[in-house]
Amino acid sequence: NSGAGYGRAIVLVGPMAVGKSVIGQQLAQQLGVPFVDTDAVIVEHHGTIADIFAGRGEHAFREIEARTVARAVDAANINRAVVSLGGGAVLDSGTQQLLGDCTVIYLECDAETVAERIARNTGRPLLAGDAMARWETLFAARRPVYERLADITVDVRSGTVAEIALRVEERL
Ligand code: S3P
Repeated sequence: NSGAGYGRAIVLVGPMAVGKSVIGQQLAQQLGVPFVDTDAVIVEHHGTIADIFAGRGEHAFREIEARTVARAVDAANINRAVVSLGGGAVLDSGTQQLLGDCTVIYLECDAETVAERIARNTGRPLLAGDAMARWETLFAARRPVYERLADITVDVRSGTVAEIALRVEERL
């Protein structure tokens, strides 16, 4: 990745429940650019993520996700919009390629910090059951991918949403 490429999409990646959507929304507002949450786009067109997983399976979800991400990133590359991805979106090889042309922000967190949010969450099928153990397993597997794709890594273990969004902006 060629650093914080001017005019390219700013894409937020990282594991579930680190705040990609709220931080992305705040960052876009600061920058005065549009914000797209790809999970929200999927829900708008296909119903809840839990229902897609239950009815059609994870594989179908990943196909929908890859298409949605590709459209969102293509559009965001034109106006330097901010895009937040679902935690598993980076596993798709086509998506990885697209992200090579974007400014990729990895929101780095740890299990302790997200535990409380995850414990309350019901909309994340991959975290059903023993949620924290699942989160840690998924994070361990995906962490090298986040790290490899990241142009900028921002620690989100402390601070308000507003503070974190400013922290991101300073690094662009
Ligand atoms: C997933 C993360 C979710 C959502 C889906 C699968 C994952 O997005 O895309 O439940 O595989 O990590 P968030 O990271 O916004 O929770």
